[in-house]
Amino acid sequence: MEMDRASQKWDLAMEDISLSIQWSGPMSVSLLVISVIVVLRNWNWWWYVPRLQQGQAPLPPGDMGWPVIGHIIHFLRAFKSPDPDSFIGNMAKRWGRLPLYTTHLFGQPTVLATTAESIKQVCMDGEVFKSGWPKSTRTILGRKSFAVLEGYEHRRLRRLTSQGLQGQQALKKYIPNIEENCKAKLESWAKEAQFEVVPKLQEFTFEVISLIFMSYAGGPVAQQLLHDFEFMVHGLRAMAIDIPGFAYHRSLKARKKVLKAIQGILDERRMNNIIKHNDVLDTLLEAKDEDGVHLTDEEIIDTILVFLIAGHQSSTFSIAWVMIFIQKRPEVLRACREEQLRIRKTKSPEEHLTYADFRSMTYLNAVIDETMRIVNVTPFAFRRVSKTVEIDGFTVPQGWFVETWFRAAHLDESVYPEPYKFKPERWQAFKPRAGEFIPFGLGNRSCIGNELAKMEMSIFLHHAILNYRWEPVNPHSPTKYLPHPQPTDGYLVNFSHI
Ligand code: HEM
Repeated sequence: MEMDRASQKWDLAMEDISLSIQWSGPMSVSLLVISVIVVLRNWNWWWYVPRLQQGQAPLPPGDMGWPVIGHIIHFLRAFKSPDPDSFIGNMAKRWGRLPLYTTHLFGQPTVLATTAESIKQVCMDGEVFKSGWPKSTRTILGRKSFAVLEGYEHRRLRRLTSQGLQGQQALKKYIPNIEENCKAKLESWAKEAQFEVVPKLQEFTFEVISLIFMSYAGGPVAQQLLHDFEFMVHGLRAMAIDIPGFAYHRSLKARKKVLKAIQGILDERRMNNIIKHNDVLDTLLEAKDEDGVHLTDEEIIDTILVFLIAGHQSSTFSIAWVMIFIQKRPEVLRACREEQLRIRKTKSPEEHLTYADFRSMTYLNAVIDETMRIVNVTPFAFRRVSKTVEIDGFTVPQGWFVETWFRAAHLDESVYPEPYKFKPERWQAFKPRAGEFIPFGLGNRSCIGNELAKMEMSIFLHHAILNYRWEPVNPHSPTKYLPHPQPTDGYLVNFSHI
């Protein structure tokens, strides 16, 4: 009897336990899952955020996403959608429109500077905000590329190269070459009748920059150089996986071929050093510093390389977008044509444009500025913080990265009403304040080729607008924003003489 009662009690107790396991099992699993999520969601804050001193300004509001990947998925989702500005837009919805936000991008704790004022403060302080390209990009650009150099070395190379790129004296000598090249290209395109504009422009801008830097353009060797070069450039934005089959690996291989080709040009120059080419390579070969020391081959080659990269991609997409916008707005195209006709009428058909002609194209200049404002070929730039600083009442910690979000400044509706509308006329009565219009950046790392880029664009558009017409085959082709904003069909057009 006693035994029966005992075994009954035992059975009842076991039933209670198994019942409570049935109830609490899912709850404890849920609790575990929630705890893991909470830990992971806060991991980056715990790991990266420094303990701030009493009285020190707070960090900019924001969200650092998940460990390792941070917010990169949100970034990619926005930039692969038709609305890249939703990335900053979502932050503004959550924390209000602020000059700075905290995030985690490209594997780094990052502050985004999103207003003219905060961008200006970052770009103008080269002592605190150093070049911030990711390591994989630096490897492709090269150790001596001045996009990654700092201090004296950076200033020295900038000074040397700017002699050949800025001001009327330097630029006017390139006009005949650019003009002849662009007339020949346009003529050959008209024979093809239908083609994608973007790759054609890549070829044109690459030849222009190769001509200016190395007096080198056209022919099968140049074609091969461009081919290898394009492979190399793909790696700049690819994941840094150096394994056969991956873009980054192909890019490093292509880089070796490009270096060999440029070294060949350099060696040839040294062997025939009596002939002067009057290009930037001659300047670099002759240049000496205060102690009479010449540049090394590595310095010269990495300098040429960064210019070939920076000097053709951005110009390509900027010209393509001007063509797209003016084709869609007949009254703007008409006004451009009238202005260019006034200039052409003062010359014989074969006569070259002058630097003064280029400076007198005020309407075309407004069209180009408006295009660059909306399109944002360079949507942001990277900096690394060398010393903790305060901006606009927020702490920006040492060792973090800052992205200056030019795109947000250019599409700020308090500065540019109806910011997404293409309105060249807005430039007639508008003078931007520092930081409000910065398609070429600002400060010690601003674009050194800005004047050349504008001149090249104006010369090309002068001839295209006066002599040719084009119509998109797919007028509603969507835009892709990575790696650069462009129509997905490469701007496929029917192209002919007027
Ligand atoms: C429409 C065309 C162009 C645009 C929109 C553009 C835009 C920019 C921007 C925004 C920067 C600053 C990046 C930063 O702050 O880190 C920059 C830097 C630079 N650009 Fe351009 N660029 C263009 C054409 C050119 C051309 C034609 C050349 C060469 C002749 C060139 C050479 C450079 C170089 C070498 C730098 C790095 C400067 C330094 O680190 O000191 N760019 N460009």
